[in-house]
Amino acid sequence: MGLVNARLPRALRDRDTTHMTQPALCQLLYVSRATEKMSMRDAMSIVDAASVNNAKIGVTGLLCYGGGHFLQVLEGDGDVVSRTFCRITRDDRHADVRLIDFSVIQARRFEDWSMRLINLDDPAHPEASRRPERFRFDGTHPFFSTDPQVAFWMLFEQKQQALAHRG
Ligand SMILES: Cc1cc2nc3c(=O)[nH]c(=O)nc-3n(C[C@H](O)[C@H](O)[C@H](O)COP(=O)(O)O)c2cc1C
Repeated sequence: MGLVNARLPRALRDRDTTHMTQPALCQLLYVSRATEKMSMRDAMSIVDAASVNNAKIGVTGLLCYGGGHFLQVLEGDGDVVSRTFCRITRDDRHADVRLIDFSVIQARRFEDWSMRLINLDDPAHPEASRRPERFRFDGTHPFFSTDPQVAFWMLFEQKQQALAHRG
């Protein structure tokens, strides 16, 4: 037993702390407001660069854009996700970044996408005609819900739709 450990109170010394040293798989969700109107090309260039970066660091997820707002999910090692999110918050292409959820997860749900864009403003989007009532979930945010579960399921549903649409 090392000197430092020997000085710890018994309750702390005997505690199982192995979980604290294991990398935890986490998911992070946030919403933000685009500072300028995004063309499809602008949004694609964010995601192209993001997916190259994310692939190197083991981050997966999905970025939805609509009504001048972003909703993004990031998955990966907690520290890596946290650092990636800090970098993203400093990006001046968006503002009013609001963290919705940062939690430990058992498995990835967006494992095939190092980052993928779904543009809800695209008239070709399968739900274009149902958009207003479909995406304005609550009064706290003008476009996307800030409820963690609602936001997660919306993103997950978008993923499933995108996969089904591709056939
Ligand atoms: C809405 C939005 C989402 C972004 N998502 C990611 C992402 O998932 N991964 C990433 O590396 N960069 C993402 N970026 C870009 C980062 O903000 C940043 O520009 C990029 O990581 C390069 O950072 P650096 O110049 O400090 O190296 C995103 C930017 C915006 C505006």
